[in-house]
Amino acid sequence: MNPYPPDHPVQDESYWSGVRAQYAVSPDFINLENGFFGVQATPVHQAFQRYQEQLNLESAYFLRVRLPERLAGVMRALAAFTGADAGELVITRNLMESLNILLQGYPWRAGDEVLLAEHDYDSVIETLEMVAARHALTLTRLTPPLDPASDEQIVALYQAAITPRTRVLLLTHMVHRTGQIMPVAKIAAMARRHGVDVMVDAAHSFAQLDYRLGELGADFVGVNLHKWLGAPLGVGLLYIRRPRVVDIAPLFGDSRSAVDDIKKLAHVGTVPPAPILAIEDALAFHLAIGSARKEARLRHLSQYWMTRVRDVPGVRLFTPRAAERSCAIAAFGIEGVAAQQVVRRLMDDYRIFTVLRTVGAEECVRVTPHLFTSIEQLDALVAAIGEIAAGAR
Ligand SMILES: Cc1ncc(COP(=O)(O)O)c(C=O)c1O
Repeated sequence: MNPYPPDHPVQDESYWSGVRAQYAVSPDFINLENGFFGVQATPVHQAFQRYQEQLNLESAYFLRVRLPERLAGVMRALAAFTGADAGELVITRNLMESLNILLQGYPWRAGDEVLLAEHDYDSVIETLEMVAARHALTLTRLTPPLDPASDEQIVALYQAAITPRTRVLLLTHMVHRTGQIMPVAKIAAMARRHGVDVMVDAAHSFAQLDYRLGELGADFVGVNLHKWLGAPLGVGLLYIRRPRVVDIAPLFGDSRSAVDDIKKLAHVGTVPPAPILAIEDALAFHLAIGSARKEARLRHLSQYWMTRVRDVPGVRLFTPRAAERSCAIAAFGIEGVAAQQVVRRLMDDYRIFTVLRTVGAEECVRVTPHLFTSIEQLDALVAAIGEIAAGAR
């Protein structure tokens, strides 16, 4: 039931309670909805507040004199962390901005086909629908299995859907509904053999899973920094493999930058600098724990509650059974109780905050612990699910 030996670092509760002490979270409820926005650790939040103060004290001097050098430092830190060249990265406000820059700037031809999945993020799908209407594109939606037998099963699904008109494949690395991790590198390798471009929505995988951007094998990746990296709200990242920068036309007007300079995509005017500067602090906090240890702990937490409810009569898990196919995010339902009702009862009766998500035509309850989630809080969730399920029988 527990894949780790008792002395494994993922269950060194004294280490993790030290990590927990570095987060200030509301004592009023158990927050198991950490998929939307990842709370900043206290040192990151304090740095962010210092930057705000300094900006307000120094005003234009801060922006004109201090900021350029500090920004260069942030870009160097991001390049080192992601394994990308700073010339392949643009800081954006969030993932939707990154994906809009890509989707609206891509050199579409009328009749091009885009492959996507039903489980992709709704707003990304809406952007694609808008772009499809403007450029006369065809969108083909796939429904990958919730609990695949192998990576190859998924690769084969995408491969079978490729036609001579397929130009782009949109992939969500970690499905926000169920937590399923898609085998992006394997799908991207197959797509490359067919001459199809891959755009990755890495909103949840970035800084939750231990990988470098280049390992995804995709030329275009959108990232979110305010979820699992724990930077303040208002920062995302766009990665474009260097030789492909030239192919993306700026969404925000630019006539000054060279066509192969990624800065052409970042011509957005004055933006709040404090969240951007705090990226460096968020990276330092993340690295002090370590990507591999963070991923292992988050997976341990979700596996902890899932293994305890899996066989409870009436409970259904929407997340793949194999532990390596998910990490922090997972979802469940209870037979005979609408998911909306389960979310409401968890909050009203047990002070546990979760969120409703849809999976195809069904609804589920998404549960997302964070590094500050304790085993006792997960025990409270397991007990609550058991009671709600028992009441429905
Ligand atoms: C899979 C996925 N993609 C994209 C986004 C959008 O991120 P943002 O609101 O930061 O643009 C989210 C946000 O929850 C997400 O879960």
